Amino acid sequence: MTDTDIVTHTDHRPAAREKVLYGGDYNPEQWPRDVWEQDHNAFDLARIDTVTLGVFDWALISNAEGKYDFTSLDEIVTRVAESGRQFVMATATGALPPWLAHQHPEVNRTDFEGRRHVYGQRHNACPSSPVFRRLSTSLAGATAERYAGHPALVAWHIGNEYGGACYCKNCAASFRVWLRKRYTTLEQLNTAWNASFWSHTFSDWEQIVSPNAISEHWRGPNHTAFQGITLDYLRFMSDAMLQNFIDEKAAIREHDAATPATTNFMGMYRPIDYHRWAKHIDFASWDNYPPTDRSESRMALTHDLMRGLKGGDPFWVMEQTPTITASRDINPLKRPGVLRLWSWQSVAHGADAVLYFQMRQSRGACEKYHGAVLDHAGRMDTRAFREVAQLGADFERVGAAVLGARTPARVAVLFDWDSWWASEITDGLNRTVTYPQVVLGYHRALWQAGVQVDVVAADATLDRYDIVIAPLLHMLKDDVENRLRAVVERGGSIVSTFLSGRVDQDTNAFLADAPGPLAPLFGVRVEETDSLPAESINRIALSGAGLDGFLGSRSIFEILVPEGAEVVGAYADDFYAGRAAVTRMPSAAGGAAWYVGALLDPDGVSVIVRAVLDEHDLIGPYADEPDLEFAVREGAGGRVSFLLNHADAPVSIIAHAAGTDLITGDTVGNGDALTLEPKGVIVLREN
Ligand code: GLA
Ligand code: ZN
Repeated sequence: MTDTDIVTHTDHRPAAREKVLYGGDYNPEQWPRDVWEQDHNAFDLARIDTVTLGVFDWALISNAEGKYDFTSLDEIVTRVAESGRQFVMATATGALPPWLAHQHPEVNRTDFEGRRHVYGQRHNACPSSPVFRRLSTSLAGATAERYAGHPALVAWHIGNEYGGACYCKNCAASFRVWLRKRYTTLEQLNTAWNASFWSHTFSDWEQIVSPNAISEHWRGPNHTAFQGITLDYLRFMSDAMLQNFIDEKAAIREHDAATPATTNFMGMYRPIDYHRWAKHIDFASWDNYPPTDRSESRMALTHDLMRGLKGGDPFWVMEQTPTITASRDINPLKRPGVLRLWSWQSVAHGADAVLYFQMRQSRGACEKYHGAVLDHAGRMDTRAFREVAQLGADFERVGAAVLGARTPARVAVLFDWDSWWASEITDGLNRTVTYPQVVLGYHRALWQAGVQVDVVAADATLDRYDIVIAPLLHMLKDDVENRLRAVVERGGSIVSTFLSGRVDQDTNAFLADAPGPLAPLFGVRVEETDSLPAESINRIALSGAGLDGFLGSRSIFEILVPEGAEVVGAYADDFYAGRAAVTRMPSAAGGAAWYVGALLDPDGVSVIVRAVLDEHDLIGPYADEPDLEFAVREGAGGRVSFLLNHADAPVSIIAHAAGTDLITGDTVGNGDALTLEPKGVIVLREN
């Protein structure tokens, strides 16, 4: 990259508004004018105040290189502004228009199998294509020139859901440029990639090709002969798309110095390292499409991860569906109350905007059955519309109480794309164990214990945390071991797991006992690592740190040798029965470094996590109610806590604090008996 360091000002954060922004993707260009009038009537009823325009309008705006016609978009913008609503303007570069793909075939991607695509679909541009870079930047600039300074413009939405990958010749050439910048010499590259293995020593930069199905890979993207090449290609591809974002943002900034710019991220999305992007976005936003209807703890983690991108600043939910998604094999409805519950959950974790995909259901193409605020008949007497309107009324009643407010977290979980990539593209481990699954296990245990958690990058400052959990920290880089040590040295505690501290930034193994440079800190070394099918359970007998009983473990089993640490749990089965599985290295300052050598069952993770929390007196309220989520935001409006009942049954609790329920206006006394209905929500401004 040459110009990744475009200045991004933190004062590009969205300005404070009077309520949580509410609305979503709006495509009136697909409808006749009389439908627009029906739309705005419905939006008024549902308290919709913000719409996202133009996400896929490249062909509408431009039918030839350098020619722009904003007539249609102008009419839409004018009608939106007349209604008193504000708009997010997209740069429309998320899908290529046919003329461009035909005129310049290089803009089409080449896939993992090496097939150059012809025109079709969306998210289809090669990020390295000079033609794409030039024309997308020009389009972004022309759009910015047109709408900069519009009083109803609230944010820029650049591209759409950046992702996927391209393996064309232009990308290979850009990859080589990226590699020259990273390694300077071929000798250093050969060392980093351990190229002497399988005769791969490169003697000319031109010999390097993109790692895909016709080069280093077999059986798909996770099976590579060289982790070094594949990891660098993942990093490069994330950077190449980041460069597209940066290019467009720079074009916007030529016309609009102030309006914040973002792009819609996808949460735990593997192909893009959002931490590498974070400093270039003005605020974080993401599209919340959970995989199942019991995804509450996963969404909690993802919201925390997205909030962590901008150091805890509020983020936006740029998209969610009011009812169903269309892209799954089976597309369940959000049950009654779920939309409201999940929307409040996002606010509880730091969202200042809750937006939908989409405002009106599409007539044709693959998303015609995707849920929308208004269905094909345009009805407002549907369950979906009523729930949308009720939520709009809730947001209006609660007003500005939480806007700008932050999460007071004493606990951090490290999340690292490099460790994710490196551990999942590596042979010799257990391919059924995935990085998100392990992180989720620890985050879920914290979430169930009513603890506020920041999810931060491996290079984050850890000074403000009492507890730092670093699950599956496979790669050590950025001095992370020293920052973890500092936590323990000032009396905090850290937790890490199996397969941590195994490789350096190039994915080469440390020539030392695992967990490598972390070993002295945890007072433990790994002698051997066993991996077995998930059906094989090894019980872990607890006998240290005041714990007893058994935990279940499976899939990955490190046989630990304590070197200073006390044994908290030992395997009970197999030839390593009696050997250490969980250890705790106490520190003089009072904290400890816990090492968990096996994939524990969820209950087991909770036992260990609660033991650590307990030592710091950090277990939150309602920790014994597994389906009741507790979250807190603190800001100018005081301390607001959110009680979210994810269960299908009512839950009865004793209030942890006195305050006012901002949705109902009811007063709550500390110690009052309260009942939350199934999917019920209390937004409590504490006294
Ligand atoms: C994504 C896209 C939208 C739409 C939705 C459907 O989030 O950004 O354009 O396709 O998915 O769920
Ligand atoms: Zn390409």
